[in-house]
Amino acid sequence: MRILFVGDVVGSLGRKMVAEYLPRLKQRYRPQVTIVNGENAAAGRGITEKIYKKLLQDGADVVTLGNHAWDNRDIFNFIDTAPKMVRPANFPVASTPGQGIVYVKVNQVELAVINLQGRTFMTAIDDPFEKISELVAEAKERTPLIFIDFHAETTSEKQAMGWYLDGQVSAVVGTHTHVQTSDARILPGGTAYLTDVGMTGPYDGILGMQREAVIGKFQTALPHRFEVVEEGRGLVSYCVIELDDQTGQAKSITPGLINADHPWRD
Ligand SMILES: [Fe+2]
Repeated sequence: MRILFVGDVVGSLGRKMVAEYLPRLKQRYRPQVTIVNGENAAAGRGITEKIYKKLLQDGADVVTLGNHAWDNRDIFNFIDTAPKMVRPANFPVASTPGQGIVYVKVNQVELAVINLQGRTFMTAIDDPFEKISELVAEAKERTPLIFIDFHAETTSEKQAMGWYLDGQVSAVVGTHTHVQTSDARILPGGTAYLTDVGMTGPYDGILGMQREAVIGKFQTALPHRFEVVEEGRGLVSYCVIELDDQTGQAKSITPGLINADHPWRD
């Protein structure tokens, strides 16, 4: 099975980049499953039903979330009727809306897609390490193919999760920090790993936000209103992961960028 994963879609420019490049990426790589992180898709914070549906229409099979999952209140109106949406699994109460794991069936093969959230420098929710052990055991009853979007702030927590799960799951791919890391590899046990896939959206903002406010905040230490960059040059950050359908082990992981410095070539 081949998986295409597109990192954090930020705002309208991110959605525009998805609409423009996701069909081309799918044509080039022919993935069986396409996963898109959409937690920043609505003006940089959260997601709406309309945007969720548009991401699916543009080619996503599953939409993952993260710490901004609840920032746009529309989420509460549709997450329980959105079968292709997965939010962080390690929320403390069982009544949390939505689901932390989804299964995608392609021919006779099934992929479990899990979203988890880190705890270091983030809202403290339940232990992702304990939660993932539970979920992996559950997923393994159905399939050896398990993909994890680990939405976390620190490289160390992401690396820890990668090594913790090496040989247990097919892939641990990080999101949230918006800049693609250059450490894609297959760990010795057969788990594909990448600390962060990077973002999809404005290429000339600061993590997708307008630069003036971010610089101003650093200069003054006073609150500034961060607005997402809506116009200008765009960026797509993604990775392609190839799995062995029998063992669930990863055969390759290839990260990619589309931007003015890495232009798309047909
Ligand atoms: Fe995030």
